[in-house]
Amino acid sequence: TTARIGLAGLGTMGSALALNIAEKGFPVAVWNRNTAHITEVIEEAGPLRDALVPSETLEELVAAIAPPRAIIIMVKAGAPVFETIEKLVPLLDEGDTLIDAGNADFNDTRATEKRLREKGIHFIGMGVSGGEDGARHGPSIMVGGDASAYEPIRDIIEAIAATYEGDPCAARLGPDGAGHFVKTVHNGIEYADMELIAEAYGLMRKGQGKSPAEIAEVFGRWNGGRLQSYLCEITEKVLSATDPETGKPAVDVIVDEAGQKGTGRWTLIEALKLGQSASTIEAAVAARSWSAMSGLRGEGSKVFGEADGPAPTLPEDDLGRALLAARILAYGQGFLLLKAASDEFGWDIDLARVAEIWRAGCIIRSSLLDDIAAAIRDGLPEGALHLAPAFREPLVNGAPALRQVVTQSVAAGLPATGFASALSYFDSMRQARGTADLIQGLRDFFGRHGFERVGAEGVHHGPWWD
Ligand code: 6PG
Repeated sequence: TTARIGLAGLGTMGSALALNIAEKGFPVAVWNRNTAHITEVIEEAGPLRDALVPSETLEELVAAIAPPRAIIIMVKAGAPVFETIEKLVPLLDEGDTLIDAGNADFNDTRATEKRLREKGIHFIGMGVSGGEDGARHGPSIMVGGDASAYEPIRDIIEAIAATYEGDPCAARLGPDGAGHFVKTVHNGIEYADMELIAEAYGLMRKGQGKSPAEIAEVFGRWNGGRLQSYLCEITEKVLSATDPETGKPAVDVIVDEAGQKGTGRWTLIEALKLGQSASTIEAAVAARSWSAMSGLRGEGSKVFGEADGPAPTLPEDDLGRALLAARILAYGQGFLLLKAASDEFGWDIDLARVAEIWRAGCIIRSSLLDDIAAAIRDGLPEGALHLAPAFREPLVNGAPALRQVVTQSVAAGLPATGFASALSYFDSMRQARGTADLIQGLRDFFGRHGFERVGAEGVHHGPWWD
């Protein structure tokens, strides 16, 4: 068999993608550094094994693919990816394409794309979301690279992607690093969404004394309404699970230290570089970092005691409304960041398309994304999601609830970093005149930086300089 495409790296995600490609009828050449694992994957592939072409070396992999070749690299992000690229490049011909399908830093993707372009080799940075199950049965796929490199493999990518009402959740979003940037922001939003969910859980658990099973039911009800999302759905599952060893709620045997591989942090770093602030995502990254300092938290609880204020009285419906409002605000920050990056790098990203391909397959898939896609297609006032007519009602109704979540959490002594960030963003973005007049006055006072004067042209200084 001559393979249509190659795949290097048969880890969890790589082998799931390979089987997905094979299942859609495309012969795929597969390589793995540990060659014994190639045999295992093929043996476990059942009837799909006929569409898998095992390759023990990278030379064999390259030789097995019909030119112009396309090879997906699905090895650990960072050095292993760079090494695989270095080994493959000398084996390729001009016009061949390498595809990095991991969670890469888009700055690396841009640099590699430029370097390989000089050698006549295409480089695609492809964000893949949906975990192992997504990779196997239909992920959301965010492609960045030359259209001329994407066109020949587009049929494969669209065939393996999830679909939303028949529309494949895969798209080329722009050149070079655009796909990996969008995937990074997807993950940043994923962090924010999970943090808000965790804070809602914390408020009910610690503040209101509800059991994990009771909270699971709340998430189940929310998932049946406007908060419908994969993350709420799996929150219900995680909270209702029992640890077989102890009989305790599964969540109670998990150490409360959150891991993070970098994409959330990258979202913030890039936001700051672009002169933006994705504060709800920042809150989520901060909360994960603080969670990891469990020793420090333990000491803090000894010295200062845990929460001791009045218990939050917020009813479930209000908490749900607050969660929806905060979610809209967090997603809005993500989309503003995408717009800023698209402008800065000249990517011309179709933001509605981004929302559309996030409607299925990816971790943040939800009914909200369908509304977001429609709102962006209708044109966002000032590019801001929270100003879209479609979100007027949930924000007008949700803001008082969000305020209650924050004030009651503060009163109770419970952290609500994500909710508070979302609320402060909302309150800041509805002040026609804020407090930066004083900042500008101070800057002018100590450094003669000058300011714009109301109703006048040019740079002005304050009377303190007269
Ligand atoms: C996805 C996920 C996936 C993953 C990341 C983020 O879209 O399928 O975002 O890419 O879970 O590795 O994980 P961390 O929480 O470890 O940073």
